[in-house]
Amino acid sequence: MSDRTDEPCVLVCVTGCIAAYKACEIVRLLQKRGCRAKVLMTEHATKFVGPTTFRSLTHEKVAVGLFDDPEDPIHHISLAQEADVVLVAPATANILAKMAHGIADDLMSTTLLATPSPIVVTPAMNVGMWEAPATQENLETLRRRGVNVVEPGEGYLACGDVAKGRLAEPEQIVEATLDVLARSSSPDAKLLAGERVLITAGPTHEPIDPVRYIGNRSSGKMGIALAEAARDMGAQVTLVLGPTSLEPPRGVTCIPVETAQQMHDAVIDAFDASTIVICAAAVADYTPAHPADHKLKKSAEPLDSVELVQTPDILGEISAHKGGRRVIGFAAETDRLLEHAQAKLERKGCDAIVANDVSRADSGFGSDTDKAWWVTSDGAEELPTLAKADLARAVLRRAYDL
Ligand code: PMT
Repeated sequence: MSDRTDEPCVLVCVTGCIAAYKACEIVRLLQKRGCRAKVLMTEHATKFVGPTTFRSLTHEKVAVGLFDDPEDPIHHISLAQEADVVLVAPATANILAKMAHGIADDLMSTTLLATPSPIVVTPAMNVGMWEAPATQENLETLRRRGVNVVEPGEGYLACGDVAKGRLAEPEQIVEATLDVLARSSSPDAKLLAGERVLITAGPTHEPIDPVRYIGNRSSGKMGIALAEAARDMGAQVTLVLGPTSLEPPRGVTCIPVETAQQMHDAVIDAFDASTIVICAAAVADYTPAHPADHKLKKSAEPLDSVELVQTPDILGEISAHKGGRRVIGFAAETDRLLEHAQAKLERKGCDAIVANDVSRADSGFGSDTDKAWWVTSDGAEELPTLAKADLARAVLRRAYDL
């Protein structure tokens, strides 16, 4: 990591694209925001902007060829380790493909493969190249691995098209890079390194027939916030996610499910490998015993009953076999919150319950904030009303300390 000064080191990787000249402004803006910028260019990038320009801006050697620095025979490793964050700006379709496939055939691609630091990529290219399935699949792969992508904007492209593919604005790129830097250098960034966190989130849908189901109002926000926070704290995360319109977070393994039984099976599959389990899902307690295999027709007769049977109690079952794992449940309560949460803690046998007050408009199902208590056998700790992202971090810190 950067040791020349206290300034965080951003390694700016410039690839061969007409937008390469914008990297000069990016370097300037990073410097203005208190960063040390070092520049690494591909050979192709030097056809668009000369290394001397970046050398003058940064007062640092500009890295280009694998064997250019006789004083540093393993230059890609020192560059990879010196950076606090690596920014690829602009990122061509070629470098994205190399990163996605682990190709390491020049200084930039070997450095990107070797770096332990977070990476931000800012694609810029012709719209056809941008929309090509190969590029989109490569980006998806990178996102899944936790690479941060600043999407290109729409506008006039060098080829004459007016379409998506323009490098994002330098200010936006710098903000995104500083954001990633802040997250990775927060005191919590490595807290969960080595932990494998399994999370349930969202509602379940229990089918009555092929088009109707019994469900609930969970949006999945709380569980997704937990998954993102655990990822940002260094954990490997598996998210078992019920049906939701929200995008699963990047950089976590997401297992989409519909029903309580499917959620149960996915949790049991992932359970052995986990070290911390957090059940934030609102799982249906009952499911239709005999879902129809065809759409039920409306008839003049009232529908007397739908026979329901209990779903598996996922939290109860894993708590009974938790071994050395830390297992945390959630409870959404409208009244006598602490009493019900304590009873749930005992009944389920988990280590802690996050009890949220869902009688309030700013807490619980679908809200962006939560009013919650951390309940263990030692007692109940009241937490302030928090954004779900902040509650997620508070819960994970406490789970770690259990
Ligand atoms: O998704 P959001 O819109 O952000 O809303 C978040 C939330 C309100 C759904 C979440 O914060 C929450 O409180 N989840 C738990 C809801 C609840 O009250 O669950 P419960 O009382 O039915 O179950 C208690 C615990 O057992 C929960 O951890 C639940 O995941 C688990 N459980 C329940 C039933 C079942 N069959 N299996 C389970 O594992």
